[in-house]
Amino acid sequence: EIGFFFPPEQTLAVIKPDTQHKEVILDEIRARGFTVSRLKDTVLSREMAEEFYKEHRDEPFFGQLVDYMCRGPCTMLVLTKENAVDEWRAAMGPTDPGEARETAPESLRARFAKDILQNAVHGSSNAAHARDKIHFIFGDISSENELICDLEAEE
Ligand code: TYD
Repeated sequence: EIGFFFPPEQTLAVIKPDTQHKEVILDEIRARGFTVSRLKDTVLSREMAEEFYKEHRDEPFFGQLVDYMCRGPCTMLVLTKENAVDEWRAAMGPTDPGEARETAPESLRARFAKDILQNAVHGSSNAAHARDKIHFIFGDISSENELICDLEAEE
């Protein structure tokens, strides 16, 4: 039998401003096998929100996206799991909750997003973005061994 081993990977996840049922979403994240290695609530400044989404600066929705992201606290998370980047994208579901409800009804966006802008959660789209955004939000945590522990287990 051939097995595959994916080393633990990290991604940056965000529960976006004004999202209802944040605690349910956090429970879901853990139930889906992610370790919550870091968690903090942060209100992004305009400049930080622009930097965070700089890959989208030429999109027509960029202004609205930045307005939304700095409207209230974001819950910033570092999630650890085998294949975390792709697994978290799958857990979120498609960007548009209408599409999410059609194609991924169990996904977080299908269940918790209001519309394509206020779509409840963010996740890095690849490993390079994950590394950059974790560093942007949390600073250099790459050498900290607590990353493999769940925060809840320390309480
Ligand atoms: P994108 O990176 O395409 O989606 P995802 O979050 O699934 O990686 O877009 C970033 C965010 O921009 C998206 O979560 C919500 C917002 N957005 C809009 O407001 N309108 C749009 O048409 C799109 C594509 C995105």
